[in-house]
Amino acid sequence: MKIISLINEKGGVGKTTLATHMAAGLAIRGKRVILVDADPQGHATIAFDLDKEPGFYDLIVRNAPFGQVLRVVPPERYAVPAADMSGELLVIPSNIETRSIAGSISDAFAILKRFNQLRNAIDYVFFDTSPTPSLLHSSIYMATDGIIYPTKCESWSFDGLRESLTHKDQFSPIRNNYDLSDIKVLGVVPTMFRGRTLEHQDNLRLLHDTFGSLVWEPLPVRTIWAEATSARRTVFSLAPNSGTAEEAWRMIGQLEERIYEQS
Ligand SMILES: Nc1ncnc2c1ncn2[C@@H]1O[C@H](COP(=O)(O)OP(=O)(O)O)[C@@H](O)[C@H]1O
Ligand SMILES: [Mg+2]
Repeated sequence: MKIISLINEKGGVGKTTLATHMAAGLAIRGKRVILVDADPQGHATIAFDLDKEPGFYDLIVRNAPFGQVLRVVPPERYAVPAADMSGELLVIPSNIETRSIAGSISDAFAILKRFNQLRNAIDYVFFDTSPTPSLLHSSIYMATDGIIYPTKCESWSFDGLRESLTHKDQFSPIRNNYDLSDIKVLGVVPTMFRGRTLEHQDNLRLLHDTFGSLVWEPLPVRTIWAEATSARRTVFSLAPNSGTAEEAWRMIGQLEERIYEQS
């Protein structure tokens, strides 16, 4: 099992969009995937038309069994269902109570310990996080194997990215003290890219200069992403034959490559 977190301390940069599509993409490819909604806004929960509920809170604070908090996403919400679909997508939902988790746990390893119980049952766990850093993020950093940073090619998203990288680095010595390896940066993903504007071209160049090969191919701004959000489905399910779905699959291809390189 690998735990991957989507992080950027700026809102509206595509964390939830990438978390839901990465989880869905790997499930379509046959993996057993859990998406943890760690944002009190619960957008990763409603992205699949599930009810907001305190699943993540109950798991971590009340020590609820996984069976009580996991919700199965019906395949038609995220895939074009095929008879031979062998993967599975499960969500641990969130609601406003997720905000209280940080104040209710004293053990920085609370999240890691819970998910270790699933080591042999699950292939990937994705954490969709909130932009505001909190003690909950600390516990997520202690559990995470790899981070993906979505960013717009805009100044304030870069600022959120810089802040997030600084926080990640602060956890290295603590992790090392506990014999945990450093968190791998799997990628910096430019989202909502407008390739025809000089502003975005310049900023993409800046990203490449700073992060080199960590930068993935940009995901262009496309209406279908927003339509999929409104329809509470993925682009794989809403518009499987669109250019947008093709771009999303290329993004999944890069994810698989990075995971493969790191393992
Ligand atoms: N490539 C894209 N083109 C157009 N809209 C997008 C794209 N990626 C994401 N969006 C939209 O942008 C909005 C914000 O994205 P979201 O994933 O919720 O960001 P975050 O989780 O970082 O706050 C959503 O409504 C989503 O549908
Ligand atoms: Mg979000």
